[in-house]
Order: sequence, then C-alpha cells, then structure tokens
Amino acid sequence: MPSSLSSRRRFLGASASFAAGAFAGPNLLLKGQNSAGKRLNLAQIGANGKGLADTGMVTLTHNIVAMVDVDQKRLDEAAHKRETHHRDSGEGTPPAPKLFTDYRKMLDEMSNEIDGVIVSTPDHTHYIAAMHAIKLKKHVCVQKPLCNYIDEVRNLHKAAKEAGVVTQMGNQGRTMDGQRMAKEWIEQGVIGTLKEIRLWTNRPIWPQGPIKKKLIDAPEGFDWNGWLSCEPLEPHFDLDLSPEDSKKNKRGNSVHPFNWRGWWQFGSGALGDMGCHIMDATFSILGQIIPEKIDVQSGEITDLTAPMWSSLVYHMPAGKHPALKVTWNDGMKDGKPNKPERHPDIPEATFDKASSGMMFIGTDGVIFEGDAYCASPVIYPQEKYTQVRLDMKAGKIKKTETRSVMPNNPQGEWAHHIVNGGLPSSNFDYSCPLTEFVLLGNLAVRSQQMVQWDTKAMKVTNVEAANKFVSRPSYRAGYTA
Ligand SMILES: NC(=O)c1ccc[n+]([C@@H]2O[C@H](COP(=O)([O-])OP(=O)(O)OC[C@H]3O[C@@H](n4cnc5c(N)ncnc54)[C@H](O)[C@@H]3O)[C@@H](O)[C@H]2O)c1
Repeated sequence: MPSSLSSRRRFLGASASFAAGAFAGPNLLLKGQNSAGKRLNLAQIGANGKGLADTGMVTLTHNIVAMVDVDQKRLDEAAHKRETHHRDSGEGTPPAPKLFTDYRKMLDEMSNEIDGVIVSTPDHTHYIAAMHAIKLKKHVCVQKPLCNYIDEVRNLHKAAKEAGVVTQMGNQGRTMDGQRMAKEWIEQGVIGTLKEIRLWTNRPIWPQGPIKKKLIDAPEGFDWNGWLSCEPLEPHFDLDLSPEDSKKNKRGNSVHPFNWRGWWQFGSGALGDMGCHIMDATFSILGQIIPEKIDVQSGEITDLTAPMWSSLVYHMPAGKHPALKVTWNDGMKDGKPNKPERHPDIPEATFDKASSGMMFIGTDGVIFEGDAYCASPVIYPQEKYTQVRLDMKAGKIKKTETRSVMPNNPQGEWAHHIVNGGLPSSNFDYSCPLTEFVLLGNLAVRSQQMVQWDTKAMKVTNVEAANKFVSRPSYRAGYTA
C-alpha cells in the first residue's frame, strides 16, 4: 500500500464523492470528457502480491468493485488489507468489493458495472485476462511484462487499439521524472556523444537454473487449475530444491506465489522480470528502436527454466545516436554478482551498492542510476553534475519531456487519463514495443544463439529454431484469448 501521507492526500481528494454516493454505477463514457472528480469502478485480477499494492494506488480515489484471486486465503487477506488501508486513512470504509476466484466469472457477472481492470497475476495470465477485458471494452492496466510471448504482446496491442480503450503497463519508472531528466541531459549534450549503455540486475532472487518438479498436493483453497489457466493441465508441483538451495530461498519451495518467475511457461526469467524497468529509459532514450542483433552468453538453461545468469549485447543501429552496444547482465556467475565493468568515474563504493542499475556512457561524462527505475540518475564527474543542476535551475537545460500527472503511481495515472483524457505514460503504444524489445533477449537466451529479428515479419531471420519461442505453444480450452 502507498505511504500514509500520499494515501491521505489521495483520499482527501476523493472523500467528498464517497458521501455523494460512490458505487453509483459504471462510468463507461468517461474517456476524454471533462469529468474530473469522477470515481471509476475498477476490478483487480490477481488481488494479492503486487496486485495488493496496485489496488492500494487507486482504492482511495476510485471504487474497487471486484477482486479476483485463485487462492482463497490470499484473496481474503487482500480484501482485509484493503479494508484496513481505508480504515487507517481515517475517512471510513467504502462498500466491500465482490470477491471471485475466477476472473472469467467476474467479467461475466460484473462486466456492466466495470470501467477498467487491473491485471497483476503471474506473467502467463496477463494476456488472456487482459484480452478478455479488452474484448468487453474495459480499460486495462497490466503489470510488466505485458505478456511473456511476443505474439501475445502484438495481439494485445492491436486489440486495445481497435477497442479504443485506455491502456497502461505497470512499470512505475516510466511515470517518474528521473528517466525524463536523463533523456533531456543526453539530448542536450551534457555527456557529449552517447557511446555505450550498460544495464544490470541481481535478479533472479528466486530459484532459477535447472530445477525439477516435485509432485505434491496443492494447498487447500488454492485453485491450481485456475492458476495454470492457459497452460496445459498438469499435477501440482513444488520446486525440487536441494536442502542448501531450499535454505537460501526465503519464499519456500512452492511455485506459487512468486517462485513461478524462473519457469518459461509462467514467467520470463530475470530479463523478463526486470527488463521492462531497467531497459525502459534506454528504450526511450534511443528512440524506441529495435536491435540489429543480440549476442548471448548464459548459465545452463532447460526447456522449462531460465538460467541463473545471462549476459546479452543488444547491437543498436544508428538513429538519434550513433550505433552503439547496450549490454544486459543478470544473476550470479561463479559465486559473484554478474555485473558489468564499472565506469572509472563512478566511485567504487557507489557502484558496489547498486544491485540493479544503468550507466549511460558518453564521450564527456556518464549518467549513473543505482536502481531499476531510473528514479534518481546522477552524473559523473561530480563537478559536471553540480553545474547541470545549476543549469536546470536557471532553465538552461530545458524540460522537453512531458511530466506524468502522477509520478510513481502508474495505476493512478491510468485512472486519471480514463477520466480526463490524454495518454498514460506507459500506454500500449509505448509499452508493447518496450516489452517486445525486452522479450527479444529471451529469444537469444532460449535458443542459446545470436539472433537477428525482422520486426515486420515478426521472425528471427538467422535461427529458425528460435521462432518457436515467439508464440505460446498452445492454449488450454476455456482459456483462449
Ligand atoms: N511493477 C513492479 O514493480 C512489480 C513488482 C512485483 C511484481 N510485478 C508483476 O506483478 C505480477 C504479479 O507478481 P507477484 O510477485 O505479485 O506474483 P505472486 O505470485 O506473488 O502474486 C500473484 C497473485 O495473483 C494470484 N493469481 C494467480 N493466477 C491468477 C488468476 N488466473 N486469476 C486471479 N488471480 C491469480 C495469485 O494467487 C497471487 O495472489 C507479475 O507480472 C510481476 O512481474 C511488478
């Protein structure tokens, strides 16, 4: 849930309309109209985990009319926490949302009452749940990565455009000022000519690499069938970890919750998990272009699971900037973080602390961000940064990028634009190509070869075998999009 200060601020803006009869029905015609102050009726699919935080971003200013989770215990907990959040805000509690364990049933029963849907399930269900909602003309806010297969990303983009709905991906960095500033600095020549970009993360922080399945009964109240959704039905399993690995993993051995990330069926590995954050500023700064080829090295992969580490080189063609390399490093290699080489201008202690981050290296300085979202980029050498801050204050460095109306709140920003018109920062015209950019790296990881991509044909041109990773192999009946 958001901090109490920001919760309170949002709540105060919203409290009047509680009294004036919230939940009064759907606001289906809001898009683009001057309807400031209207409360939307929203549904949350994937109510616990990140979904709980996502609900928290809008629950004080809009109506959460339905919450869905395939795990009854987690659903009840999420509903309870939402209620507590309202109570703690000091302004009373709105009517409770209807609770469901199947998003299809929720959409069947409540479609007429819902304006928009937030999808915060594991990656493999983003596509089918969001597509179902889009076909009912619901606005959608979908967690990152939008999908774990490229053709799903494209289908979702097309369907959303046709339906004319307001869209957003939940990559919060895109709503922040930091990545806009970094872009403005680079475009206004602060670090000279951009030469190279280095990106990294310590993920996976969940079990990954070659892991087997250990068949075990599903916990009571957990709908494993519903969790698998579009994937083929199979017996419930836990991760078969060694006692040592099991001890290291704080989140237990079950694949649900959280630990699904390393399984190609359900997640998209470290790159898919963090790429939509860490590659976001790069994608925007380079002008949303596609690499000419991607080189790969990685730890062992299997047909089922992603590697413990990977190192990728995206070869970017000349565009707004000269041709350059974007490197991506994740995980632990030989017992050490698989980080890129530090730029000598960045202090060692600062670099060592950054478990994820980015370096934009120019001929005349480097922009460093020691986290995943590009929230607070700085410039080295230090004297240059001091001068840049003075120049920003004096207006010599211009703000050319439009700022978000709700920094660090992608769900709130999305809802704002449904009500008031305009486009959310990570609307699908931006976030679908970004997700594709990220997932291209997984084509190289999964095929263990350098790949070249034909965007128009949606095809790897140099390794035919890599093309089987572009689309989900099959969809189970009842869970097609
Ligand atoms: N933007 C961010 O910073 C951020 C942070 C964390 C997670 N995420 C994204 O959020 C999504 C969820 O991640 P998480 O860590 O919360 O996972 P999780 O497994 O911890 O939680 C997912 C929740 O969804 C429920 N669920 C699963 N399948 C469902 C279905 N078919 N219908 C309804 N509910 C279902 C689960 O029971 C669980 O409560 C992922 O896509 C992840 O990448 C984004």
